[in-house]
Amino acid sequence: MDDKRDELRRLAAGFRTNLALRARSGTAGVPAGPVRRPASARPAGSEGTAGPAKVDAAGGLAGLRVVRDELGDCQRCKLAQGRKNLVYGVGNPDAHLVFVGEGPGADEDEQGEPFVGKAGQLLTKMIEAMGYERSDVYICNVVKCRPPGNRNPEPDEIAACEPFLKKQLGAIRPRMIVALGKFAAQCLLRDDTPISRLRGTFRSYEGIPLMPTFHPAYLLRDPSKKKEAWDDLKAVIAALRGPGSPPLRT
Ligand code: URA
Repeated sequence: MDDKRDELRRLAAGFRTNLALRARSGTAGVPAGPVRRPASARPAGSEGTAGPAKVDAAGGLAGLRVVRDELGDCQRCKLAQGRKNLVYGVGNPDAHLVFVGEGPGADEDEQGEPFVGKAGQLLTKMIEAMGYERSDVYICNVVKCRPPGNRNPEPDEIAACEPFLKKQLGAIRPRMIVALGKFAAQCLLRDDTPISRLRGTFRSYEGIPLMPTFHPAYLLRDPSKKKEAWDDLKAVIAALRGPGSPPLRT
């Protein structure tokens, strides 16, 4: 386990150095600093026409605000009755990379922020091992309110909430999505294949490459699966960095 952590730290350090060098030489596929993508850098005419959902003309922060306003004090499904906080999403509104989980747990419900409990701490480490800060990426869930007793969200709850996830992704228009765990992957891909078989291969969500991988909560229960999850994240890093970039150390 400690060896694994050391390896992750080494990989992250190597990745950061590599990005810094490539940024200095002007060849970086992914910016070395916070991965922000100003509206002016998006392809002309892409506003409101590309991506999974059209948030009028607004993308990024403005688009996310439109979607948040539309959610309001959401009462569209029965999860509203038990929630303390609606957990919308957190991070960079112009992120290249979005992580989608299942739904808030107790800690997230308490704090109104996704992935802040034990699984969230592991997710943060995974993000950092990829060479990002948590604030560089965007993190959200399929459902925005905590299912009681952390049960799986039910079909009517997903049906009520998923359109808002779609609109969030439409506002951000990331270059890549990572679906965390069976629930998010199966839901976004409309595919019942077990996560152990979905993971590791890029799929497409409304034209955006999507990598299914294990949920951090599952990795906490079965740390032997961390290597496979890390392989998936390395594939994501490599894809974001683009062709011709030197291979990551393994
Ligand atoms: N698990 C999830 O899927 N999402 C969270 O926000 C926290 C734990």
